[in-house]
Amino acid sequence: MDLKGLVRDVPDFPKEGIVFRDITTILQSPKGLKWAIETMEKSLKDIEFDYIIGPESRGFIFGVPLAYNLGKGFIPVRKEGKLPYKTKRKEYDLEYGTAVIEIHTDAFKPGQKVVIVDDLLATGGTSKATIDLVEEMGGEVVKLVYLIELDFLKGRDLLKGYNVTSLINYDSE
Ligand code: PRP
Ligand code: MG
Repeated sequence: MDLKGLVRDVPDFPKEGIVFRDITTILQSPKGLKWAIETMEKSLKDIEFDYIIGPESRGFIFGVPLAYNLGKGFIPVRKEGKLPYKTKRKEYDLEYGTAVIEIHTDAFKPGQKVVIVDDLLATGGTSKATIDLVEEMGGEVVKLVYLIELDFLKGRDLLKGYNVTSLINYDSE
């Protein structure tokens, strides 16, 4: 399956000089969507874990069907101010400025194992902040799964020592 061929390249979005890798065209394709979910799922077949964590919002798109298919629970990590109960927060760097993500303090118990699922690994900032939240709460990140990795941004450098799988890779912009 040529999943990469289903990604739509949008030049100059969100700003000039950036090529945005648009996954809505994968989601739109029944075969593409099925292949994406099933292939992400295969990367988890030998992994023992308790929960899938997906960062808002595109992490929800892939995290929930994976959790459902594998008979696990799903934990949302959300942008600031969205989760209703007690939260733990983490600030992380964006290209310009910072952002905050949050998780419910009772999302899992210390010692439990989680898998982080997102659509894209770029600089790794979102993933590292999510890992920090999990570890500060006593959890263990046993795997990270992405649909797309922008290798040239070197997000993996922030994820050294973790088990990382991505389905579609871009060596250059
Ligand atoms: C995008 C993408 C990843 C993250 C990757 O999310 O969905 O979560 O950026 O970038 P990074 O590796 O440099 O952190 P975004 O924050 O744009 O929000 P969205 O998922 O709500 O669209
Ligand atoms: Mg995201």
